[in-house]
Amino acid sequence: MNKEIYDIIIVPDPVLKQKAQEVQTVDDALRAQMDRMLETMYDAPGIGLAANQVNLLNRVLVMDFSQREDEEASRDPIYMVNPEIIWESDEISEMDEGCLSIPGQYATVERPAQVRVKYLDYDGKAQEGLFEGLGSHCVQHEIDHLNGVLFVDYLSSLKRNMILKKVLKDQKLKAL
Ligand code: NI
Repeated sequence: MNKEIYDIIIVPDPVLKQKAQEVQTVDDALRAQMDRMLETMYDAPGIGLAANQVNLLNRVLVMDFSQREDEEASRDPIYMVNPEIIWESDEISEMDEGCLSIPGQYATVERPAQVRVKYLDYDGKAQEGLFEGLGSHCVQHEIDHLNGVLFVDYLSSLKRNMILKKVLKDQKLKAL
């Protein structure tokens, strides 16, 4: 294992169902965590990662969707500490979502099409951002993680159990 990256926690680990705690100070230790989370996300590869997914229970997430449509595009990481949705649109968006903690599984999830989020950035400065499309799904998905919620929680229990069983089976095969 590369020591610059974290191991990603896979379902059904209980840490994924826990609520992460508010961060009091954005300091160098927290920035080191954010750097390492970002490298873990790029390595996976994924477009978003929340602290619960690396076994940490503070309200931190990282995202980068700049390369989703154009692999040549330069990196454009977003770091969020204590993110909070302060407005959401009535308009709904449907999109297929996946999750690094639920490998290989995807399902359509409905969410508000646009959200406004306030958060502290990498330097601890207060920021606000409006997200739509993929960015909106991603930021809502990651904030859900900090509240112990997974995208499969929006599905019927039948569908959710099917997905979780598939992941367990794949993990067992991998362990052989
Ligand atoms: Ni996820």
